[in-house]
Amino acid sequence: MSSKKNLKYSVFLILCLLLLYGIWYLKTSIEVSAYLEPEIVATHYNGSNFVGSQTCMECHADIYTTHLETAHYNTSSTAAKEHIKGSFHAGSNELNLKGVRLKMMAENDQYFQLSKAKFGDTSTTKSKIDIVIGSGVKGQSYLSWNDSKLVQLQASYFKPTGSWVNSPNFPDYTLNRKVDDNCLKCHVTFAKNINESGIGNTYDRSKMLLGIDCQRCHGPSEEHVKYHRLNPNVLTGKFVDNFKAYSRQQRLDACAVCHSGLQSQQIKGNPFSFLAGDTLALFSKTYKNRTTTTKLDVHGNQMGLLSESECFVNSPKMDCITCHDPHKNQRGNINSFNSKCLSCHDTNDLNTVVENHNHDNEQNCVSCHMPLVPSEVMKLKLERESKEIPVYIRTHLIGIYK
Ligand code: HEC
Ligand code: HEC
Ligand code: HEC
Ligand code: HEC
Ligand code: HEC
Ligand code: HEC
Ligand code: HEC
Repeated sequence: MSSKKNLKYSVFLILCLLLLYGIWYLKTSIEVSAYLEPEIVATHYNGSNFVGSQTCMECHADIYTTHLETAHYNTSSTAAKEHIKGSFHAGSNELNLKGVRLKMMAENDQYFQLSKAKFGDTSTTKSKIDIVIGSGVKGQSYLSWNDSKLVQLQASYFKPTGSWVNSPNFPDYTLNRKVDDNCLKCHVTFAKNINESGIGNTYDRSKMLLGIDCQRCHGPSEEHVKYHRLNPNVLTGKFVDNFKAYSRQQRLDACAVCHSGLQSQQIKGNPFSFLAGDTLALFSKTYKNRTTTTKLDVHGNQMGLLSESECFVNSPKMDCITCHDPHKNQRGNINSFNSKCLSCHDTNDLNTVVENHNHDNEQNCVSCHMPLVPSEVMKLKLERESKEIPVYIRTHLIGIYK
């Protein structure tokens, strides 16, 4: 009888242990899979998924941290106080144009543009500032949601004067302009337009990835993250592009998609379809509606200007990364840029070639050979009577300027 009882006890004990193991197994496997499955924040038109940007921090902490300081990362954001550079204080919060008066207001941590036309319907329109465009190097523009429709507000902020201005290319009378993919494509990581061709300004508001983040240049990275979480011992990047293996044109195209001028014509897919590694010429055609004598504008066309420079034409390997570190804010770090010039140009040679001019290491090469040039297309109007003033941009036509 006691052996029968023992057997019962043993079976009972085993069952209990099995149950405990089962609970433990379920619990840990849920934890493991929750860890292995990164948060998906949007799906690209090619079907691959974007993960939350902070996911990259886990394994690329150095790059992630310096990237937070870049103009790219900060080029679009929500309308929080720390992001809006324009003033809401009485005395500096108004803009008086020929046909409209604008006033900027803060109310319980929310920000608004009040606009009152001077002719016709003179009632006041109140628009909420929802999205900030521009890190503020030269200025910022502000976008507003009207349900799911996105518009650009009339008042922009201009850094050189520290004041509110009429948004570039806006008329003197009241207007909120529609914002579609052709505006957003260079200033956000991804936007999900209701119309897949990217025309129209109706968006899925929950799928707007602000800032130019890692995945804007490296592509949607869900597969990459999953693989490396599962295989922590693998030290070469999988399911991710390798810029070092790209051709010069591919490396250039990854930047040129946003830095080759505003006048481009989409010939394939949606404005967000192009990903690094693709050939840009298959996706869009840059309008060259100019004769050989008209100049390329400095605004947003670093690619066009650089490719006409002697340095570029005569250096088979030169690309944007020759001088720029895509993960760091290098603005104003002139010594670093000069050392790039000197990596190809020998000052001793220069001093014998160039008469009456001393090219020594102390010289700021950039100030003479890549000067700030006024843009012909990006001009701003301050007030009612004042003339338009141009924005100055560093030209990438490296050359000899007298
Ligand atoms: C679980 C770890 C892990 C996470 C999370 C992770 N990576 Fe990586 N990644 C790696 C490893 C390991 C490599 C290979 C070593 C290296 O280049 O740093 C790598 C390499 C890369 C490379 C270089 C590929 C090459 O061959 O040149 C890029 C680009 C990259 N990761 C982008 C990202 C982005 C973007 C994110 C966030 C969406 C991300 N990674 C998140 C582990 C990770
Ligand atoms: C998705 C579009 C996009 C891509 C891709 C892109 N850029 Fe930019 N870039 C911008 C925009 C927009 C700005 C202006 C940001 C601002 O100040 O708000 C900018 C600014 C810059 C600046 C000025 C930074 C500063 O501190 O003022 C440099 C330099 C630059 N980009 C280089 C590059 C290089 C090099 C690449 C390729 C590796 C690249 N960009 C790829 C859109 C892009
Ligand atoms: C083809 C890419 C492209 C498109 C499209 C584009 N931008 Fe830009 N934008 C840039 C680049 C590049 C810069 C950086 C300075 C430069 O080269 O002039 C910039 C600069 C800016 C700045 C100044 C940012 C700063 O920190 O100083 C603002 C504001 C801005 N753009 C707003 C807009 C708005 C609003 C639209 C849509 C109506 C738009 N941009 C469309 C590429 C683009
Ligand atoms: C403006 C485009 C751009 C953005 C934004 C960007 N990268 Fe890169 N990344 C590049 C380019 C271009 C290279 C190749 C650099 C080279 O060849 O020297 C690169 C290289 C890398 C590499 C290879 C190792 C290295 O240091 O060269 C890793 C890893 C990487 N990026 C991760 C990231 C992560 C993580 C982020 C976001 C925090 C990010 N990148 C944001 C353009 C970008
Ligand atoms: C990758 C190598 C490389 C880099 C980096 C480089 N250059 Fe050049 N540059 C050249 C070559 C090659 C030429 C063609 C003439 C020659 O052989 O000296 C040239 C020509 C020039 C010229 C003569 C232009 C003309 O129109 O006659 C100037 C001025 C110049 N570079 C200035 C600079 C400055 C300033 C920098 C840094 C911002 C710079 N370069 C960076 C390779 C380079
Ligand atoms: C020969 C070196 C060199 C090369 C190559 C180069 N840049 Fe630059 N870039 C500079 C210098 C120098 C500045 C000025 C930086 C500053 O003022 O802090 C600059 C500034 C910029 C700015 C900011 C302009 C402004 O006034 O706001 C952008 C955007 C930019 N570069 C993009 C690019 C892109 C895209 C490429 C490739 C097509 C490229 N650069 C290639 C040297 C270079
Ligand atoms: C004060 C303005 C100034 C500064 C600073 C300057 N340059 Fe020059 N550079 C010139 C002028 C002007 C010429 C043309 C002289 C001539 O043709 O008589 C020139 C010519 C050149 C040339 C063409 C030489 C040739 O073979 O015809 C190169 C390359 C060059 N500079 C590179 C540099 C580099 C690199 C630096 C930084 C170390 C630099 N420059 C700093 C004004 C400057």
